[in-house]
Amino acid sequence: MAYDFIADRQELLIGGKRVPARSGRTFDTLNPATEEVVARVAEADAEDVDAAVRSARAAFEGEWSSMRAAERGHLMLKLADLIRHAQDELVELESLDSGKPVSAIRRQDIPAVLDTLVYYAGMADKINGQVIPTRGDALTYTVREPLGVVGAIVPWNFPLMIGMWKIAPALACGCTVVLKPAEITPLTALRIGELALEAGIPPGVLNVVPGFGKVAGAALVDHADVDKITFTGSPTVGRQILTGAAGNLKRVTLELGGKSANIIFPDADLDAAVKAAGAGIFFNSGQVCSAGSRIFVHESIHDEIVDRLAARAAAIRMGDPLDAKTGMGPLVSEVQMKRVLGYIDVGVKEGASLVTGGARAGSKGYFVSPTVFAGVRHEMRISQEEIFGPVAAVIPFKDEEDAIRMANGTVYSLAAGVWSGDIGRIHRFVRRLKAGTVWANTFGPTDVRLPWGGARDSGFGREHGDMAIENFTEPKVVWINTGR
Ligand code: NAI
Ligand code: MG
Repeated sequence: MAYDFIADRQELLIGGKRVPARSGRTFDTLNPATEEVVARVAEADAEDVDAAVRSARAAFEGEWSSMRAAERGHLMLKLADLIRHAQDELVELESLDSGKPVSAIRRQDIPAVLDTLVYYAGMADKINGQVIPTRGDALTYTVREPLGVVGAIVPWNFPLMIGMWKIAPALACGCTVVLKPAEITPLTALRIGELALEAGIPPGVLNVVPGFGKVAGAALVDHADVDKITFTGSPTVGRQILTGAAGNLKRVTLELGGKSANIIFPDADLDAAVKAAGAGIFFNSGQVCSAGSRIFVHESIHDEIVDRLAARAAAIRMGDPLDAKTGMGPLVSEVQMKRVLGYIDVGVKEGASLVTGGARAGSKGYFVSPTVFAGVRHEMRISQEEIFGPVAAVIPFKDEEDAIRMANGTVYSLAAGVWSGDIGRIHRFVRRLKAGTVWANTFGPTDVRLPWGGARDSGFGREHGDMAIENFTEPKVVWINTGR
């Protein structure tokens, strides 16, 4: 089924119509497991982005924002139904385009996409204002109004899921969207755009403009008629977005990277801790913003944990992402593979001890073996910089103070985990860890009901939960003179 979709020409989706780029240009998207071209995709530039923004504006001024909120919710539920029916196709398409294993997409991404959509569909008609009494001669209250046209710029590590994290709350609030998928994984976004039309979501409400970040992404950021940019990606681009957004002072939400600490004390359930530490860094080939890339281990158990983690890493079944038994696929691109291999070289040169992995696997596809470095020191680059690959840095610590100092000692602040059987210690760490999310005796779970985001180089603002409603609406104060 995915093959039927990719056999078609992949055009932009603007105003409910599939259209080629005005320039006529296209680009190829590859399958990172085979390095073969999956599809040739229309390449949006500033003119196409402008057309998409115009159509989003027209849809916003028209049907969408004036439709009953409950009706918007119904259409979103219809979209959820269509996605459920198309899930086999979406799983395959996502896997072909990104190299993610089908088993993981089926188990994690698709359920999260549906959960997000259904959650916000239910919220569409529950966006309330407040009556706030001020004085006797007035009725004063607030209503929450949709912001308008939202530019959603999405990365390649969870194309469907992160896309839906942005689309669903924006639509629930009555905004319209121009979605710019990552240039290496544009296909499922285009399919979701088609399904949205099929669900009866009016043309122009969800536009999809594949293209390059510096061209299509930047055009969306610079556009004077876009009210909000919601972005997930690198801190470098996050900074560029802030600069671009200054033009018309558009609102910005940034979900950037991380270098999350996962701290293991000897009094923890070590079986569970090692299992979660492995999943925390190797899931999605380590291409996760909250990957537990720094595993802090008390010095008394350092060697034991390293051995057990290395055994887990070596046992991961790496291979064809389309095979349901595959546990780990390739990295998403050659650039990402080279970046990760570069960091592995850095780690070796810095004197960390390479315990397992550390090299490309095979010669076709961008596979890098799950890698464990032991005896890593806090100051090393592999402990400070986001690698975004299957590379664990195990760092010994002496005591609580030592662990806290190092855990909080990077430019990032997104998530952190702590493992201990001592409830007092857990609470001390919860209080002192600088992170948007702290996990205790687990690592990695998220839920659309809980706010998600970070601080410093991890960005600002929160997605998910009812916080997302604030991201896509603005309060309006109403003051009615009632006389005396
Ligand atoms: P990136 O930040 O360049 O790409 C993310 C999205 O931003 C893509 O859709 C891209 O087209 C767009 N973009 C790029 N330049 C832009 C610009 N000037 N204006 C507007 N949009 C722009 O990420 P990249 O280069 O693919 O990955 C580099 C590193 O970023 C990774 O190694 C990882 O460390 C981090 N990253 C973090 C993610 C997260 O989940 N927080 C996701 C993807 C990457
Ligand atoms: Mg691709």
